[in-house]
Amino acid sequence: MEHRQVIATAPSSTANLGPGFDVFGLSLEAFEDKITINAQSEQAAQIVIKVLGVGSSSIPAIVENNCAGVVVRQMSKDFGIKNNLEITLEKKVPAGMGLGSSAASAVAAAMAFNRLFDLGIETNRLLEYAAEGEVVSAGTKHFDNVSASLLGGFTLVRTNPRIEFIKIDAPEDLFTVVAVPSLKVPKKKTELSRRVLPRQVPLKSVVHNVSNASTIVAGFLLKDVQMISKGIDDLIVEPYRKKLIPGYDAVKRNALHSGALAATISGAGPSIISFLKNRKDAKQVAISMSEGFKEAKIECKTFECRISKGAKIISTA
Ligand code: HSE
Repeated sequence: MEHRQVIATAPSSTANLGPGFDVFGLSLEAFEDKITINAQSEQAAQIVIKVLGVGSSSIPAIVENNCAGVVVRQMSKDFGIKNNLEITLEKKVPAGMGLGSSAASAVAAAMAFNRLFDLGIETNRLLEYAAEGEVVSAGTKHFDNVSASLLGGFTLVRTNPRIEFIKIDAPEDLFTVVAVPSLKVPKKKTELSRRVLPRQVPLKSVVHNVSNASTIVAGFLLKDVQMISKGIDDLIVEPYRKKLIPGYDAVKRNALHSGALAATISGAGPSIISFLKNRKDAKQVAISMSEGFKEAKIECKTFECRISKGAKIISTA
């Protein structure tokens, strides 16, 4: 095999959407990671990784500690690939902010590798590989961000008796505003924010969350942003995790007062996401979310974004 190259991108995403803990994902156009894999004909099976881009200094450039590196290493092993591989990760999704950063890198890597060697891996298996990358950063294999980042739109994950993914296109008029606070997050943030969750929950809260999660799914099927937003309220995870986000109540209150239909924690946080019907109020919602964080003396950046169509191969050579 002569020298070959594939470049793939994968977008940021938000997980949970309130009541859909570890089940729901939504692909966000805000940022995307880009992976380039170069394959040489040498038969030494060496893999190297370079990390470029904003915040790249916090991303390990060691194959076994890097979400994309781990995916490529596992796929090479399983498919008996002996080429030397050079991975370049251009990091755009902010790490540790609840925007599916590790998932974006892992998905782009799995997609690029699949195309580079024309493996024709089916989607479920590709997602299993991408989820390996999540273990490196989150300590657990969860599929909500990877499914949204790969497939685009709204996704839900079934785990029993086997992994299955269901994708529903988002309504064209669904719009989001994400506020990313300037907080220093611990290295194993997702792991820590999972530890604060209760082991047992009252049946009343389960009924509330199942009812709301069902409303969200119905809203996506009926392409009804109001219905989606009605379902975002969560009694199981938000009460525990919001304590880890200074200013959370003020940010949510401000978002709702300035036109957002719903607001919740994005993934494991600390970003907060608001849901809107079209772009009209987005600017005002963004400003008022920033003001909410300011009450807690925290700066934040806001992003107004549409729903993404998912990961893409952008070139092959
Ligand atoms: N569902 C996961 C969690 C997403 O909330 O812990 C983490 O990105």
